[in-house]
Amino acid sequence: MTREEAKNTIEKLREEISYYNEQYYQNDTSVVSDIEFDHLLEKLNQLENSYPEFKTSDSPTQRVGGTITKSFETVYHRYPMLSLGNTYSEQELVDFDKRVRKALPDQPVEYICELKFDGVALSLTYENGILARGVTRGDGERGDDITANIRTIRTIPLKIKEVGLPGIFEVRGEAFLPLSSFTRINKVREENGEALLANPRNAASGTLKMQDSSVVAKRQLDCYVYSFLADEEVVSTHAEAISLLEKAGFNVSPTFRKCKDIQEVIKYIEDWEFKRLELPLETDGIVIKVNSYSQQKALGFTAKSPRWAIAYKYKAKSAATTLHSIEYNVGRTGAVTPVANLEPVKLAGTVVKRASIHNANFIAEMDLRLGDTVFVEKGGEIIPKITGVDFSKRTPEAEEVVYPDHCPACNTPLIRQEGEAAHYCPNDFGCPPQIKARFEHFIQRKAMNIDGLGERTIELMLDKKLVHTVADLYKLTYDEIYALEGFKDLSTQNLLAGIENSRKAPFENVLFAIGIRYVGRTVAEKLARHFKNIDEIAKADKEALVAVPEIGERIADSVIGYFRDPDHQQLINELKAAGLQFELAEEEKDVQISDTLSGKSFVVSGVFENFGREEIKEVIVAHGGKLVSSISAKLDYLIAGDKMGPAKKEKAESLNIPILSEEEFIKMAGLVR
Ligand code: IVH
Repeated sequence: MTREEAKNTIEKLREEISYYNEQYYQNDTSVVSDIEFDHLLEKLNQLENSYPEFKTSDSPTQRVGGTITKSFETVYHRYPMLSLGNTYSEQELVDFDKRVRKALPDQPVEYICELKFDGVALSLTYENGILARGVTRGDGERGDDITANIRTIRTIPLKIKEVGLPGIFEVRGEAFLPLSSFTRINKVREENGEALLANPRNAASGTLKMQDSSVVAKRQLDCYVYSFLADEEVVSTHAEAISLLEKAGFNVSPTFRKCKDIQEVIKYIEDWEFKRLELPLETDGIVIKVNSYSQQKALGFTAKSPRWAIAYKYKAKSAATTLHSIEYNVGRTGAVTPVANLEPVKLAGTVVKRASIHNANFIAEMDLRLGDTVFVEKGGEIIPKITGVDFSKRTPEAEEVVYPDHCPACNTPLIRQEGEAAHYCPNDFGCPPQIKARFEHFIQRKAMNIDGLGERTIELMLDKKLVHTVADLYKLTYDEIYALEGFKDLSTQNLLAGIENSRKAPFENVLFAIGIRYVGRTVAEKLARHFKNIDEIAKADKEALVAVPEIGERIADSVIGYFRDPDHQQLINELKAAGLQFELAEEEKDVQISDTLSGKSFVVSGVFENFGREEIKEVIVAHGGKLVSSISAKLDYLIAGDKMGPAKKEKAESLNIPILSEEEFIKMAGLVR
């Protein structure tokens, strides 16, 4: 390929990928399969690595991150980022309308109502159609330059479409973590025993301040834009600006409405009070803006906020109710979760009877007592939470909470590991709720996916002692199932077929299904791909485990602990005998791209220009190399990135281990032709 050809191919690929991105993220249409898409992106990435002179900041490859920012630069906003006047009352809206009309006598006034998105305000500067800078609000005058992180937000165009926007302009918007992503992330974190993210807004704000943009990319933030600022006057109303931004490729929430008077504004507020709870993100009110730019200009600003806009906030969806009792549930891994039983109370359209209390620390911090009047609120989570105690209503009868020191289900003494908030029941094989939860985990879709088997049937089977461990499922006979309450010929056959079918579930599903603590679906996939079969995983020592991309010490310890347990060894043997897949399927093994690095071992250290931290490890494995976590005499190469610690360098030198630069590694792996 000549340089000229490479340049043309790069441009074509960028256009094609950007088009698919836009279709996917803004129009919800998949034009190509994920595999095809990844393939195009990889091709572009490789070309850009081979011809770094053609790398540009607006390339779709920049979306995957990989830039490490040590500390964010502070930059001044060209136009200050002001705040908005707030109100909770309709009367104050009427007053606002009166003030506006008084300042604009005899003029018709139109308002635009939008939802007030609860995320992180961003200011995006575009220069000649390209995203030049993305900055946080900061103190309104100056904020942090977080451009590298902002580039990973797929609905923010890196290059806009030609729709007549000026050479330099700014767009303001709200970055947010969609509720679905928030729930998904927390589910995985829970599965892995990690601390949960408190709410979507904190999660979005924390994510945008991360130093490694490839981690930001994985969180999949989104952004709605709601303001346009430029020195030139290209449009005369806010509505026109928003529609132009949408045409240029920005993500605009379709929820805005033009209102011709304050009554229509109030109607909008009523319409959205509950409907907003169905939106993909959290909103805490609405923003009312005068539509005409010339009228906005005439109204001007107070010291802090514009006179042409106001925010109406919905009252927090909070209710007061009585805490009757606390119930302690035991999960699959033995973790005990306290749940509050409340006097049923209506909150944001539903009746709330239970609320999550997290752990013993939470009870102590809140000073919760049985019989207390507590406040409950609905946040981004599905289960409402207790946000406080009304101490003025506490009676002398209020009873102190005694946190159990024995398992509420099997009476085994609970343990609490150092540094962990949760209490655990260590009786894995004898504690009924743990056993039941393990079955439920095992049969779920992402695991063995056993059709025809539900929670109720598992209970029946456990009650009747038909099964003790999940391996017993594979020994069930027609007669045993048929004898269970509610089972007829067809349902029995269905279940048997479901069990039979699950023997074919791929290795990564099986590895997830056996329920090793901290091994969620993604980790299971990583381990399966890396080690290829269960025996290799069981044999792996800590060093081999942590060398796998994204596997940390905590997971490694848990995996080692799991396979050391004789009960687990027996379970694996029984499942093997039942014919489950304990090896990666042949076609999966072929994900290896080449064997240019085969037989060589590597330690990776420092920061790289062309790869994220995890990415370089994946490249090594994909080209047949082996990853090692520490330097020893057996090591073949140390790949030294920027800012590698001097100790590593010294050690490698003293052992005469060749040190490769990023460039040398790229050549060795054959990434350049
Ligand atoms: S317009 C002069 N529109 O609310 C301020 N802001 O209190 C113009 N926000 O920092 C802001 N949704 O982060 C505007 N539809 C919307 C909004 C919105 C959320 C946030 C924004 C701003 C804060 C103002």
